[in-house]
Amino acid sequence: ESMQEPYRLQFHFTPPTGWMNDPNGMVYHRGEYHLFYQHNPDSTVWGPMHWGHAVSKDMINWEHLPIALYPDSLGTIFSGSAVVDVQNSSGLGTKENPPMIAIYTYHNAALEQKGRDDFQTQGIAFSLDNGRNWTKYKNNPVLKNPGIRDFRDPKVSWYEEGQKWIMALAVKDHISFYSSKNLLDWKLESDFGADVGAHGGVWECPDLFKLPVKGTKEEKWVLLVNINPGAPNGGSGTQYFVGNFDGKRFEMDPQFAASLQRKPLVASTVNGQEGIWLDYGRDNYAGVTWANVPERDGRRLFLGWMSNWDYANVVPTEKWRSAMTIARTLELENTPAGLRVASMPVKELQNLYQQSYTFKTQPVTSTLSLTEQASFSTPTYDLQLELERLSPDGQFAIELSNDKDQKVLIGFDATRGQYYIDRRKAGSHTFSDNFGGIHYAPRLATGATFPLRLVVDVASVEVFADGGKTVLTDIFFPDEAFTNVRLIADKGSFNLASGKITSLRSIYA
Ligand code: FRU
Repeated sequence: ESMQEPYRLQFHFTPPTGWMNDPNGMVYHRGEYHLFYQHNPDSTVWGPMHWGHAVSKDMINWEHLPIALYPDSLGTIFSGSAVVDVQNSSGLGTKENPPMIAIYTYHNAALEQKGRDDFQTQGIAFSLDNGRNWTKYKNNPVLKNPGIRDFRDPKVSWYEEGQKWIMALAVKDHISFYSSKNLLDWKLESDFGADVGAHGGVWECPDLFKLPVKGTKEEKWVLLVNINPGAPNGGSGTQYFVGNFDGKRFEMDPQFAASLQRKPLVASTVNGQEGIWLDYGRDNYAGVTWANVPERDGRRLFLGWMSNWDYANVVPTEKWRSAMTIARTLELENTPAGLRVASMPVKELQNLYQQSYTFKTQPVTSTLSLTEQASFSTPTYDLQLELERLSPDGQFAIELSNDKDQKVLIGFDATRGQYYIDRRKAGSHTFSDNFGGIHYAPRLATGATFPLRLVVDVASVEVFADGGKTVLTDIFFPDEAFTNVRLIADKGSFNLASGKITSLRSIYA
């Protein structure tokens, strides 16, 4: 594949051909970040799920590998996770050569068609050669279905304090926690969430991990819960809860729980319940974090599927569908709104840095072309800006455009106190009624300076505002890449305090 087709992202992970959705089995092992993904190799729409596979040394440049898991008599292979069984607790490898173990959902469509409710079960597979070859466990499934239609997406992690494995499983409207000493026999410990958070759709793809509270000696647990539909700007999205996990149950931090009760920060509230969202854009779903990242690294590394079930099957790409977000580090921070998870692009993005230009401090009273000032243009870049002295009810926007009158606007609306992405005129959108639109996100920071970082590929923008406390990810399909960047003072004026644009090399160059 040339990987140069229209809309082919140039530094985000895409499948060479065929359909892709959720990231699966993210695990670090022997110098490689593994990325598996929900994959239909025979079509560009969702269908019988396989686990596609790729590896990377930096989460930016990827080597595509053969399909890791194929459907079998128990079903097709839905989402799940992978671990390295370091102590060989499963007995499926040896201590010298610990097995990589994938824990995934079997989806048995034949049973579903018969009207049964128990068609989703959990199975495992193991690899003794760094994920190159996989063997399904002979006594699958390891977790049978108790008669619940939505029973899937196991995320397994090692619970050091209790020397056992914990599985977070999405069960319709809640998360169930199971424990195991050997990854083969699982015991139900507790359920969380049926009565809290956003419930506009079914709960899917959970993740549970510990994070230090930045600037303190405290640690808290974070529970990611993907939900579809019910996201604040429509369709699928990722909410989270902050609290404590004691090996059996997850309990919300009282302050975090209180912040859930406050007045919704974004207009759309589903069923009167508001969630707290990792990303307020339309296109970051089913994201989870990498297992087994070395302690000396210390980062919690996240990546999501850069699409939305509202239109994923009909976006205008021909040979493949969907991409992943850029890999991100997650940190837990105290903000005026409460404890919040901040995301920023991984530092490895710098591996693609090329030419850069640093802007001088200057006022913006109407429009200012950054790309003219930098006197280079590029379809793929990392733009970092600090804006200040915004007039009281002023609005600023960063406009990414092409010469075909197509554009996407990233801005701040001071009267609402919200950031937004406006992709109404960003190119092709007729494939779906609810693709075009403006997507809002609350500003959590209160500082007078607006630090903004935009990571722009030929068909996507990822906005990290206020050090990643507010994040918006949106895709778009312009006829030509958005190589013009302008700052616009919509009402009032502001100051460009500092700024830098850096072009990003294509991972296919
Ligand atoms: C989330 C999801 C998962 C499921 C998978 C099927 O996008 O619906 O719950 O395992 O996709 O492809």
